[in-house]
Amino acid sequence: MSDEALIKIAIDARGRAYAPYSGYAVGASILDENGQIHSGQNIENASYPNGICAEAAAISAMISAGGRHIVKLAVSGGDGQHLCTPCGSCRQRIREFSVPDTQVLVADDTGLKARFLFDELLPSSFGPENMG
Ligand code: THU
Repeated sequence: MSDEALIKIAIDARGRAYAPYSGYAVGASILDENGQIHSGQNIENASYPNGICAEAAAISAMISAGGRHIVKLAVSGGDGQHLCTPCGSCRQRIREFSVPDTQVLVADDTGLKARFLFDELLPSSFGPENMG
């Protein structure tokens, strides 16, 4: 799947966000090791800390479908001026299922804005391998 197609899925997921409190809709899509695509969007809650980020929802969908590794993750959010880079908690969530060359594509509604190797977003990270 092309980067553009993966980003389009993140943009579509963004349209299904439930973000009545922040008004900040985010969508995410994942290409897994089986070539399968999964998506999710943020799901806020009246009890604010119980909200779920788009990346967490997409990871949940991937695990439910049997995927275990994130080859590429696209996130779509923001106002076109400020990048919607994954939050710190989501970087650790992504880390659990990342591979050495996992890529993160950051987009808005118009398309790709920035591309990262996951390791750039969370260097010297702690993951399953560190557990020995
Ligand atoms: N949000 C995400 O879904 N992913 C991110 O990486 C950044 C933040 C959501 C959480 C909350 O619903 C809203 O964006 C504002 O922080």
